[in-house]
Amino acid sequence: MSGVLPEPSPTHYPALVTCPSGPLVIPTSPADAAAPLRLSLIIPTYNEGKNVGELVKQLTALLDPVIGDGYELIVVDDDSPDRTWELAAQIALTTPKLRVIRRQGEKGLSTAVIRGWQAARGEILAVIDADLQHPPEVTVGLFNALAGQVDLAVGSRHVAGGGVSDWSFARRILSRGAQFLGLLLLPGVLGRVSDPMSGYFMVRRSAIAGAPLSPLGYKILLEVIGRGRIRSIAEVGYVFRERTEGESKVTWRLYPQYLRHLVRLRLTTPAAARFIRFALVGLSGVVVDMAALYFLSDPRSLGLGLTRSKVMAAELAIVNNFLWNDAWTFRDLVGGQKGARLKLRRFVKFNIICGVGLALNVVLLNLQFNLLHIDRYVANLIAIGAVTIWNYWFNLKLSWRGSSA
Ligand code: GDD
Ligand code: MN
Repeated sequence: MSGVLPEPSPTHYPALVTCPSGPLVIPTSPADAAAPLRLSLIIPTYNEGKNVGELVKQLTALLDPVIGDGYELIVVDDDSPDRTWELAAQIALTTPKLRVIRRQGEKGLSTAVIRGWQAARGEILAVIDADLQHPPEVTVGLFNALAGQVDLAVGSRHVAGGGVSDWSFARRILSRGAQFLGLLLLPGVLGRVSDPMSGYFMVRRSAIAGAPLSPLGYKILLEVIGRGRIRSIAEVGYVFRERTEGESKVTWRLYPQYLRHLVRLRLTTPAAARFIRFALVGLSGVVVDMAALYFLSDPRSLGLGLTRSKVMAAELAIVNNFLWNDAWTFRDLVGGQKGARLKLRRFVKFNIICGVGLALNVVLLNLQFNLLHIDRYVANLIAIGAVTIWNYWFNLKLSWRGSSA
């Protein structure tokens, strides 16, 4: 009879931690609040048996002199066929700073990172790829950046000291194309860092605790910037190295996932709610404009000249919109700029920007109607849409000086 060895019981490995479950929310205090650490670095793995040992060795050699006992490494393995989790748990027998989660029944890079953060004991939460494509030395720079005032430190391929080692032209184009598309859809998220696709970063727990995260696919950093309370960001350059062992898990499936993630963030982050408030205020302005035009120009009421009436009606609508936007749409940004003089200044800027918007509206309508022969009502709708975005963007940046789009 051939002897079948029983599966080694997980109890053989003291480093194994039960995978957190439930909603993807980071707790405000560290998992073991009695002994909080300064840093928890998550290493997500899928079939990284050939890399994880070397990475852990390099990381401890780098971090021990800087942080001493104040940090932990957590491998989150999605029950890899090559049993990465078991190898990591064995390494942990001699590297007590390493803990291991063998995750079963749930898959995916972004959620693996969040599960790791939920089990983390650190005040700073971080992530690094397991395959040595992220140079381990950069962790020290990222950690030091967070010792200052910033809430988030991102390893970036697109700042001084950064780059990609040997990417094909096609891969560069795909990567930049994905970034550009994201920038169009979510300028307030992707525009804040030079490398929003980075999977190498550290964030302060306090900046993301309590926020319900709902990531899709690979780009966990988008979720952190989109839903976290990130006031300031530092970037540290790094060169994305070539893989020498194991295989990349990037497939074509990830591109539609990325798109869905962008759209979901667009629709569910506070920035989206702000734009909806702005658009609703705009609609109220249309009502004010119409009513005023009636009272001023209609022969059955004041019967003033049409142009004079329209200018006054538009101005009334602008005043109406300003008051609502100041009190509602941008109320959180008014915080430090209270006082009548500052309010007047915001109003003047709002007035100018909307005035330019009005001129733009007329020009766009004419171009579409006369040059492109688009139906006048369709053309007007397009012009109104474009001018709403114009008004929103410039007023956000100039009148209320907000950073979120
Ligand atoms: N637990 C878990 N579950 N880990 C995963 C999974 C998963 O489903 N998929 C991938 N990983 C792990 C890999 O084992 C590796 O450690 C890391 O996540 C990155 O996976 P790769 O497949 O090597 O990705 P990449 O090299 O193409 O992309 C990386 O670089 C990008 C820079 O453009 C990732 O780090 C991206 O996040 C990063 O943006
Ligand atoms: Mn990789």
